[in-house]
Amino acid sequence: MTNTIYVLNGPNLNLLGTREPEIYGTTTLDEIAGDLEDRARELGLTIDMRQTNHEGMLIDWLHEAQAEGARAVLLNAAAYTHTSIALLDAIKAIRTPVIEVHLSDPKTREHFRHLSYVGMAAALTVEGHGADSYRLALEAVASGTV
Ligand code: DQA
Repeated sequence: MTNTIYVLNGPNLNLLGTREPEIYGTTTLDEIAGDLEDRARELGLTIDMRQTNHEGMLIDWLHEAQAEGARAVLLNAAAYTHTSIALLDAIKAIRTPVIEVHLSDPKTREHFRHLSYVGMAAALTVEGHGADSYRLALEAVASGTV
């Protein structure tokens, strides 16, 4: 196993910073990546941060995480969280622990966000802390919680 944590981001998260800032804040994905890299370095870890708007790409990256011996995956699958049985199956198909991450708390939002296929197989869910959700998830991996 390596010290690398895959951080996989799904659809529309490339627009963080300007996308519905009242819900997601004004921090961009690049800024989140920068902060996460700094924290990972302090913890002796490396992050591999990616974003895609395509469901199948997330699945390919989950398979890759296992093949490359990633320590864990932080996954913000965005709206695919609530729709994708294929993502659920991919998480179940790999042994690499997957931590579900959300900036907002979907459970307090519209009803259609209350169901999480990702959460059915994730080792842990960190949500509702804005950009800090990513850091808290990383720290959970580093502390051995996951
Ligand atoms: C999100 C929550 C999802 O419901 C939504 O579709 C997103 C972002 C979050 O990080 O809060 O795109 O995953």
